[in-house]
Amino acid sequence: MFDLVKKLTGAFGVSGNEEEIRDVIAAEIRPKVDEIKVDALGNLIAVKKGTGKKIMLAAHMDEIGIMATYIDDKGFIRFSNIGGISQYYALGQRVRFKNGTIGSVFYEEKLDDMKNLKLSKMYLDIGAKSKDEAEKKVKIGDTACFVGEALMQGDMLVSKALDDRSGCAVLVKVIQNMPLTENEVYFVFTVQEELGLRGAKTAAYQIKPDIAIAVDVTLTGDTPESNVMEVKCGFGPAIKIKDNSVISHPEVKRLLENSAKELNIPYQFEILEKGGTDAGAIHITAGGVPSGAISIPCRYVHSPVEMVNINDLENSVNLLMKVIVK
Ligand code: CO
Ligand code: ZN
Repeated sequence: MFDLVKKLTGAFGVSGNEEEIRDVIAAEIRPKVDEIKVDALGNLIAVKKGTGKKIMLAAHMDEIGIMATYIDDKGFIRFSNIGGISQYYALGQRVRFKNGTIGSVFYEEKLDDMKNLKLSKMYLDIGAKSKDEAEKKVKIGDTACFVGEALMQGDMLVSKALDDRSGCAVLVKVIQNMPLTENEVYFVFTVQEELGLRGAKTAAYQIKPDIAIAVDVTLTGDTPESNVMEVKCGFGPAIKIKDNSVISHPEVKRLLENSAKELNIPYQFEILEKGGTDAGAIHITAGGVPSGAISIPCRYVHSPVEMVNINDLENSVNLLMKVIVK
């Protein structure tokens, strides 16, 4: 599992530029599925054919990042966010453009109160001495992701982009260990989730599934003075009850809970008070789709040091393998 997560988190895939991560995932799953295609928006859709229920499983392959917006005469680059980038998380970090160029993220030192720190007061330094030199490496509109290579310490994974490459890893593992079933299963690696669940919406419209389950990370309430929340790392996959984008369909919630009970694996319930996931777009598409989600507890979401427990990933795989044969 760790090798797969490392491979997936290491790939570039800022929202709207998912080509590289899509190729990496496609190479992992191609021999194991009946059909694989890329749709007009860039979603990767892999199908295991069958005559039973149409089940859609979705994990988003895009990651948050920044976009170069302006290069000054000295070669410093201003940027804006692609998805939910916190100025505090970004400060002092390295970002990487698709061509490998690394930028150091820093801020205007005249700022006298860090409370006033905004992305518009920050810049990237790629070591260029002039605008001309900078433009040879970075052009306006180019995007960059955080640098934060995956490592494992004890049973915790630390990396950038565990949101949602850990969900992608879960789907890849299910495909690689595909159980026998009559059901037709659509594994969808979606684009542009971080910009508002965009890819999932068009994917669900094409597939018109009977049921859908998203696999994504969720916040936790298990760090010092964290916001009150029931979810903890290492206590099993979280079955979504609600977030800002969806109230899980009771049948889907029950299916997930019963499957976890039958497997005798730990599970928890998730109520996420901010944020959403692909299920939010899927359930109101194509006449409506009963939807829910398996949420992977993740600390420090949208930072380069996101943390996930590897046992929660393994148990998410087990849970999904059970659910898709039902
Ligand atoms: Co996210
Ligand atoms: Zn996510």
